[in-house]
Amino acid sequence: VFKERVFSGVQPTGNLHLGNYLGAISRFVPLQERYDCIYCVVDMHAITVPQDPKELRRQIREVTAAFLAAGIDAERHIVFNQSQVAEHAELAWIFNCIARIGWLNRMTQFKEKAGKDRENASVGLYAYPTLMAADILAYRATHVPVGEDQKQHLELTRDVAQKFNNDYAAAIAENGHGDAFFPLTEPLIQGPAMRIMSLRDGSKKMSKSDPSDYSRINLTDDADAIAQKIRKAKTDPEPLPSEEAGLQSRPEAANLVGIFAALKGVEKSQVLREFGGAQFSSFKGALVDLAVEKMGPIGAEMKRLVADPGHIDAVLGKGAERARVIARETLDAVYDIVGF
Ligand code: ADP
Ligand code: NA
Repeated sequence: VFKERVFSGVQPTGNLHLGNYLGAISRFVPLQERYDCIYCVVDMHAITVPQDPKELRRQIREVTAAFLAAGIDAERHIVFNQSQVAEHAELAWIFNCIARIGWLNRMTQFKEKAGKDRENASVGLYAYPTLMAADILAYRATHVPVGEDQKQHLELTRDVAQKFNNDYAAAIAENGHGDAFFPLTEPLIQGPAMRIMSLRDGSKKMSKSDPSDYSRINLTDDADAIAQKIRKAKTDPEPLPSEEAGLQSRPEAANLVGIFAALKGVEKSQVLREFGGAQFSSFKGALVDLAVEKMGPIGAEMKRLVADPGHIDAVLGKGAERARVIARETLDAVYDIVGF
């Protein structure tokens, strides 16, 4: 019944890094061949925690530039900014009235992000999952590529869709939508989960919130910065093992091998067949060359794009217009169903 459609969003918070690229943005690219894709810069999610307005605007353009530089085709598919399509907020309100407080109380990300001072967290941070459900269901998306950290939120999206379909079953049928209005959106699993760890500490994931800039490769780092960060990356004194089992309890080594494999698009075992027995100094040299070769052009293209904010804003404006057509159709139907 539903056309196969992918929705995914990236928050414009903090500099994008290699983890965001390998774990999320690069994986959006091949989906363009099989699905109708909608990629969104989710700025309304970003303000669930405090943001500096000027910095937020810069980051919105940077995430857009990253989408485009990575190879997302904004003509064939849709790239836009959440706040420009008011239907997201409208549908989120409907969903706030569908979702149960108990469902939100179970969300582990809220507990992590709110920390100890939960009374002082924003209502928006608490309601984040119903806005995410609205993002996805405004387009009646059938598939969402999700990392481990978003699986629980996608389950809540399905619960919201299911409860809406049940609660309004009669009105849905009367309005000519058959026995279900919203699809039960499926997670899209694309190979093994990709978790890129900090270059300074193999037990922490590479993150924009890490205070050390040497912990991550930013997408806009130039060749010199990429080389310096990889050369300074923490390792252990042993040479590389020749089999994957040899990476166990060597998190820094496993991470660098994983980054090499992901950048090259091969399995870790293949990397180890080539580099088993090598010292890290020589492996790091090869990793620098590969990272500069693969990430250099993307960083350069991002810089070219952000230097022309008028162009990026035009891309986002056109994307929002096209997104709005789909989302408005959904909202008009939802309002009829609800009785507005
Ligand atoms: P961060 O974790 O740096 O705050 P986000 O939570 O905004 O970044 O993540 C944006 C996307 O990038 C998500 O899909 C997330 O799963 C992915 N991502 C973030 N960090 C990593 C990482 N270290 N390894 C793999 N994927 C990551
Ligand atoms: Na995350």
